[in-house]
Amino acid sequence: MLRHIKDFRVTITEIHLQPRIRIPMSYAALLIIHLFAAIMFVGTVFFEVIMLEGVRRHVPKDVMRTMEAAIGTRARAIMPWVLALLFGAGFGLSWFHRTALAAPLASSLGLLLSIKILLALSVFGHFLTAMALHRLDRLRSRASQRIHVSVFIHVVLIVLLAKLMFYISW
Ligand code: HEM
Repeated sequence: MLRHIKDFRVTITEIHLQPRIRIPMSYAALLIIHLFAAIMFVGTVFFEVIMLEGVRRHVPKDVMRTMEAAIGTRARAIMPWVLALLFGAGFGLSWFHRTALAAPLASSLGLLLSIKILLALSVFGHFLTAMALHRLDRLRSRASQRIHVSVFIHVVLIVLLAKLMFYISW
């Protein structure tokens, strides 16, 4: 058992020590922007779904309502910029993978990246729905909760796909 683990670690180390194919600086810059924006977005969704929902029953209703309204105002001011960076950098990165994306069924990378992008577009749809409901003053607590949970499930799958697409192939 230990021998297997040792062998595995040597193999991974060797892969990382291989002389790399040169990655363009523009790709590296887009990837860093994409990663930081993803951390901000996924972190906010995690906070709202796991932390905030977890404290709901320990906090008086009116306090919770005031908190949610304040967090909502802050999120509406910041999130459009975070999403612009996240999606802008995401589309920029995808340009480098356009060959794989042009034939999504021909490679595991093409297929998993295509599913990731579709899920991300669905997240954007959720965001637009939430903004529209808010404008119409119809974003009740229950609708907001449902949207948050759905976005949370989406982002967990997106992050999984973002990593798996480079580590599995068939
Ligand atoms: C909710 C939206 C999104 C989230 C949370 C997200 C998250 C991520 C994460 C965590 C990574 C891995 C980064 C790394 O390993 O350093 C990644 C990679 C990637 N994302 Fe996104 N992403 C989103 C939207 C998009 C969109 C809309 C596109 C394209 C239209 C896109 C294209 C890519 C590409 C091409 C990569 C591979 C970059 C690489 O590792 O070389 N993403 N994404």
